[in-house]
Amino acid sequence: MPPKPLARIYLPTPANMARLARVLAKGGLVAAPTETVYGLAADALNAKACRAIFKAKGRPANDPLIVHVAGIQQAETIAEFGPAALIVAKAFWPGPLTLVLPKKHGVPAIVTSGMPSVAVRMPSHRLFRKLIRLSGRPLAAPSANPFGYVSPTTAEHVYRGLGKRISHILDGGPSKIGVESTILDLRNPLRPTLLRPGAISREALQSLLGRKILVPKRKSPPAQEAAPAPGMLERHYSPRTPITLVPKFKPGSLDKISPKEAVLLFSKPPHKTKANVFWLTSRGKPAQAAHRLFDMLRKLDDGRWHMIHAEIPPEGSALAMAIHDRLTRAAAKK
Ligand code: TXA
Ligand code: MG
Repeated sequence: MPPKPLARIYLPTPANMARLARVLAKGGLVAAPTETVYGLAADALNAKACRAIFKAKGRPANDPLIVHVAGIQQAETIAEFGPAALIVAKAFWPGPLTLVLPKKHGVPAIVTSGMPSVAVRMPSHRLFRKLIRLSGRPLAAPSANPFGYVSPTTAEHVYRGLGKRISHILDGGPSKIGVESTILDLRNPLRPTLLRPGAISREALQSLLGRKILVPKRKSPPAQEAAPAPGMLERHYSPRTPITLVPKFKPGSLDKISPKEAVLLFSKPPHKTKANVFWLTSRGKPAQAAHRLFDMLRKLDDGRWHMIHAEIPPEGSALAMAIHDRLTRAAAKK
């Protein structure tokens, strides 16, 4: 017999928030919304609690966790902030930006996969911050999905993926941004490196820091060695249905796709389309497209389609880049 669902979905009433914070303080797991995606949270200073995150997700131990804090002061208890890190944190926190910094003592090795660096972020989501404050702990939280699958942007997504493996899910409605945070590696402030594109753009970071932000080469991901960013795992965010990327659909080419295969356009086309054609945004807006991306990938992954042809978004915004990045990883071969 398959295991029965364990999870209960909690609405954010004051009593439920207090209860979930107690669960966290006692070493339990709580899935909760952030502005980017839902996270699976545990007390970041409790090694046993953090180990349970890896177990629930089926995540390999060489893929370290992001630690969420309520403010810079709390961040400084776990990470070493140089001048560049302070400038960036003051400019973009709270918000969808994660900083990789030298870690301080007291952060369990399981959180950082044994590395001397830690990833930290101060989320802007009111409910997630409330959990940090009420539990009194920094919260380690990866995206609340089984390892390798599409990140969740609603409580229902979390329930479907982890409902048999965790007990507590806080429902705060859909995540506003919809793609994971930008990750900036500032271990060496002279060589700031963008490990993952997100809503905060490389250009914005560059102009703030007055220095070029490097981008690591994609080809051979250092993932297995837990080197710079195991988040660079080539295949990630993947539906079960195969995905191929298409540079840009010309109107006539849509009709050549088999009716058993789905097409995911970036923008709604001006002409009428067949039942296998979908789009991320009706108004050509990257923010709307990012907000809907993961929900759309899940919907197209219901077994109806033999293949998903996903159109590469037009260049020009941080979120379009982030969407391109997630689609590329989703399309990477197993
Ligand atoms: O928006 C987000 O960042 C969401 C929400 C929940 O905050 N979290 C998230 O976590 O996307 P996760 O675990 O799915 O992705 C975090 C990535 C990992 O793939 C990991 O490789 C990278 O951050 N990371 C964590 N610690 C690191 C470190 N010390 N050095 C380099 N990369 C690190
Ligand atoms: Mg993830």
